[in-house]
Amino acid sequence: MEYLPKEIVKIIEWGLKGDPERVNIYLNKLIEKLMQEGDVDAMKRLRALQEKAASPVTTSAIGYNRQLPVDGESRLELADEEILDPKNYKVILDTNTHSLIEEFIAFVKNVDELEAHGIYLSPSLITYGPPGTGKTQLARYIAGRLGMPLVIARTDALISSFLGSTSKNLRNLFDHVSQRSCILFLDEIDALAKLRDDHQELGELKRVVVSLLQNLDAMSHHTVLLAATNHEHLLDPAIWRRFSFKIPLKVPEEKERKELLKLYFGSFQKGLNFDLFTSLTNTMTGSDIRTLALDAIRDTVINKLDTVNSDRLVWSCIRICLNNNIITENPSSQDLKAIKKLNSTYFTGLKLAEMFGVSPATISRKLGKREANE
Ligand SMILES: Nc1ncnc2c1ncn2[C@@H]1O[C@H](COP(=O)(O)OP(=O)(O)OP(=O)(O)O)[C@@H](O)[C@H]1O
Ligand SMILES: [Mg+2]
Repeated sequence: MEYLPKEIVKIIEWGLKGDPERVNIYLNKLIEKLMQEGDVDAMKRLRALQEKAASPVTTSAIGYNRQLPVDGESRLELADEEILDPKNYKVILDTNTHSLIEEFIAFVKNVDELEAHGIYLSPSLITYGPPGTGKTQLARYIAGRLGMPLVIARTDALISSFLGSTSKNLRNLFDHVSQRSCILFLDEIDALAKLRDDHQELGELKRVVVSLLQNLDAMSHHTVLLAATNHEHLLDPAIWRRFSFKIPLKVPEEKERKELLKLYFGSFQKGLNFDLFTSLTNTMTGSDIRTLALDAIRDTVINKLDTVNSDRLVWSCIRICLNNNIITENPSSQDLKAIKKLNSTYFTGLKLAEMFGVSPATISRKLGKREANE
């Protein structure tokens, strides 16, 4: 044999250590390499082997202890574990964020390559931003893309009522993830990592932050760490600094909103005016758009309609835009102005009059003549 690819060495190494997940990761790398080299035959043979072994490899405990640690007092598991199919977890991101995520995925895939060059870096990424912008969804997407299990820390179980036990729980959880190939996800990390100098917090929480820092520093570069927060300003700066990737997730812009609408309306998008609904979903998050679509689809199916009722969808958008305030047949000037702002071409004075069942003169009076005629 002329040379032994390092992926095969790794497959043997992790096979002997009884870690099927890492075997799978290196198998994927080998398959990728074969594909690049054009060895389709060998690639197909390995894929077939992998598919045959897929269920036992990913779902049952083979050879090593995969049991999640529990809190000593409540006996609650300190984390949930998910094995994800990337097909089910799509995320729509702006171009810049998308390329950062790809960069992070490439980083994780090349940890060994970096190690071979004497560079030991732990891949860690934190996302932050308003609720419903896809932080949790993104963690699932990344786990699916990397083909690694996602171990989601359970803050309720981690924070023990026993003094000192929270730090012990953290250590147990970090020990667990460091023994295997997986992604540790600290969702809503602010619950654990609040500022140490926040005088409201008890000494215990300060110890938790110190303990979290120590665990982060001791983490193996084979463990991938993901975290998410809505309150980045509440995070301890020392924790914040530990993350190599810090990615803000924002309320989607026009292009992303259109993609979100297409994604969530799926086969129900026939006949929908996407340009109109892209403007009417201005200020909505990905989560709002998903809810909007699911409600409309439910309505379509229950009422046995051929297509989504566009007028009703317009009303749903208006309701969300006005923070779910019920609009009476007598809308305020303020509400009318907010609706008009969504799409002034669509919501003409006449259209608004028809929608609310009032005279165009009433709309003109409330909006001001110039705005009503715009
Ligand atoms: N950018 C996005 N792309 C695709 N789907 C999205 C996106 N943002 C949100 N969603 C949808 O909205 C749902 C809720 O989003 P998610 O729970 O990921 O938000 P979050 O940022 O974690 O919110 P929170 O801060 O409240 O935890 C997701 O399951 C997903 O279906
Ligand atoms: Mg979340």
